[in-house]
Amino acid sequence: MKIINSISEMQQISQAARRAGERIVLVPTMGFLHEGHASLMREGRRRGELLVTSIFVNPTQFGAGDDFDCYPRDLERDCALAAAAGVDLIFAPTAGEMYPVGYQTWVDVEKISLPLCGASRPGHFRGVTTVVTKLFNAVLPHLALFGRKDFQQLAVIRRMTADLNLPVEIVGMPIVREADGLAMSSRNAYLSVEERRSALCLSRALNDARQRYRQGTRAVTELLAGVLAIIGAEPKGVIDYAECRDAETLEEVTTAGDDTLLALAVRIGTTRLIDNCLLGEEN
Ligand code: PAJ
Repeated sequence: MKIINSISEMQQISQAARRAGERIVLVPTMGFLHEGHASLMREGRRRGELLVTSIFVNPTQFGAGDDFDCYPRDLERDCALAAAAGVDLIFAPTAGEMYPVGYQTWVDVEKISLPLCGASRPGHFRGVTTVVTKLFNAVLPHLALFGRKDFQQLAVIRRMTADLNLPVEIVGMPIVREADGLAMSSRNAYLSVEERRSALCLSRALNDARQRYRQGTRAVTELLAGVLAIIGAEPKGVIDYAECRDAETLEEVTTAGDDTLLALAVRIGTTRLIDNCLLGEEN
């Protein structure tokens, strides 16, 4: 498995692959890979001939008080995991390669970037959409896979791809969880043993809301009251947001349906975790 650091070298490899009729698949990541990332890679392996994973901790999607400096990094371990998942090539540019001196161009998806993580992390999605556009331009993929763990990110990237007529098929993938329900995340590495236990309140709250939805509760206020009670009972848990929104438009809803997104962001100590579900989904 090759590691490419230069954008122009990556473009040359991708152009040659395209000339050879190969289908290029991209799994963009910020590294510190786990089974959630691996599930995207394995699906990507099935769907194309050249499977590329990018590993780039993108500074422009982190805010001033965010965890950019301490974001976990382990390229050696990442390479082993990516190779085992069938990745052909890792694209790992430096920040200077992606954002050279004088850089001043941004991609901004307006409306659906505003609520949820967009409200609590201003500028975050502008950084995400900009870097994903640049990764697309470097890797020239036919198809790119993203996890529904970052539900709003997937929605924003779908919107951007459609709005800018980018010739990339966007595939959304299910959330991969630990055996006890915690959604896998590179940031779980920040959690102490006690915090790790507290972090289960997110998936517990989602499961409880889905169960009450199945039993007939449709009022969003009622469903959210249950979520607040479960997370509120966790001394280490501080809610950033807990909201029900339309899964397509991310507009607020007051009456829940099968396609209503329940999205959570909760701070466990200093670690901010996100999780979500659709109320009508089985698992
Ligand atoms: P990162 O957090 O590393 O995630 C990379 C991809 O893996 C994203 O599409 C994310 O949704 C997916 N993923 C993470 N945890 C997952 C889980 N438990 N189950 C399924 N998929 C999971 O998201 C980013 O990086 C960045 O914002 C990026 C898109 C790379 C742009 O910088």
